[in-house]
Amino acid sequence: MGSLKLALLCGVLLCLLVQVSLAAKVRHHKWAVEYLFWSPDCVEHVVMGINGQFPGPTIRATAGDTIVVELTNKLNTEGVVIHWHGIRQLGTPWADGTASISQCAINPGDTFIYRFKVDRPGTYFYHGHYGMQRSAGLYGSLIVDLAEGKKEPFHYDGELNLLLSDWWHQSVHEQEVGLSSNPFRWINESQSLLINGRGQYNCSLAAKYSNSSSVPECKLRGSEQCAPQILHVERNKTYRLRIASTTALASLNLAIGVKFLFLFVYPVLKIAQMEN
Ligand SMILES: *[C@@H]1O[C@H](CO)[C@@H](O)[C@H](O)[C@H]1NC(C)=O
Ligand SMILES: *[C@@H]1O[C@H](CO)[C@@H](O)[C@H](O)[C@H]1NC(C)=O
Ligand SMILES: *[C@@H]1O[C@H](CO)[C@@H](O)[C@H](O)[C@H]1NC(C)=O
Ligand SMILES: *[C@@H]1O[C@H](CO)[C@@H](O)[C@H](O)[C@H]1NC(C)=O
Repeated sequence: MGSLKLALLCGVLLCLLVQVSLAAKVRHHKWAVEYLFWSPDCVEHVVMGINGQFPGPTIRATAGDTIVVELTNKLNTEGVVIHWHGIRQLGTPWADGTASISQCAINPGDTFIYRFKVDRPGTYFYHGHYGMQRSAGLYGSLIVDLAEGKKEPFHYDGELNLLLSDWWHQSVHEQEVGLSSNPFRWINESQSLLINGRGQYNCSLAAKYSNSSSVPECKLRGSEQCAPQILHVERNKTYRLRIASTTALASLNLAIGVKFLFLFVYPVLKIAQMEN
């Protein structure tokens, strides 16, 4: 190969490298995991939240980016880890967040830095993976957009993110003791199903948060923690729904009531195993 050709090739390669490194970003997040008083379904309980929020913050990135999460355990009496569901962790198995498998649980007061690359676009979620912390509310969405210059195979005007979960009024400690007792104490169906951390357990309780007597009791509005998630859409536009389910027990069906565009979730199948 002539030296000119070689120089040209090197130049092109250098260009490509620079382009790749310019496009790929490092996304830093600083998280504190702690217990919070919260009313996901208008009944106050303790939830496991991140930075004072339940569900945890949504991570948004572009394929090729590196996510860095500096996680501090503020739970006081238990360890914690976070599993990044669906992320392949190529070359970073220690960032997979499975307690006693890929890492030791992070002790109370300690900080651990997760650092991994999101190589494929898609809708993912993350969740606690120590004990039953996922049922305690430790979860959130992780959305990876297409790398720059790539196009989705379909067109849409906007997107809506739905994180579905099930919620019990007993603490996960109480659930765990029941499930591991002899005789076994079944936990029953969850008290509520949540959409983006909001649900309704008791319509009469929920009604007091409602503004107007003209709205049916369970279709309340407002900014309370249990007020339904309102998705703003415009007529004749196409929306992409990004759906992730973090349920421990319920396998859900999602239906869209076309006339008023209400979303419903309901369990279709119960599996007799707690999966974390
Ligand atoms: C499950 O439901 C049964 C029947 O209603 C009830 O007796 C039992 O206490 C419930 N278990 C828990 C853990 O709530
Ligand atoms: C729902 O809330 C109302 C009003 O506080 C109460 O009277 C009723 O007993 C509650 N129902 C259940 C199933 O908790
Ligand atoms: C009630 O309605 C007002 C005006 O529409 C709004 O600003 C307020 O946030 C609403 N509050 C609740 C609890 O829905
Ligand atoms: C929506 O599309 C329908 C059918 O193409 C059309 O008749 C209607 O005027 C459109 N509405 C708006 C608000 O654009």
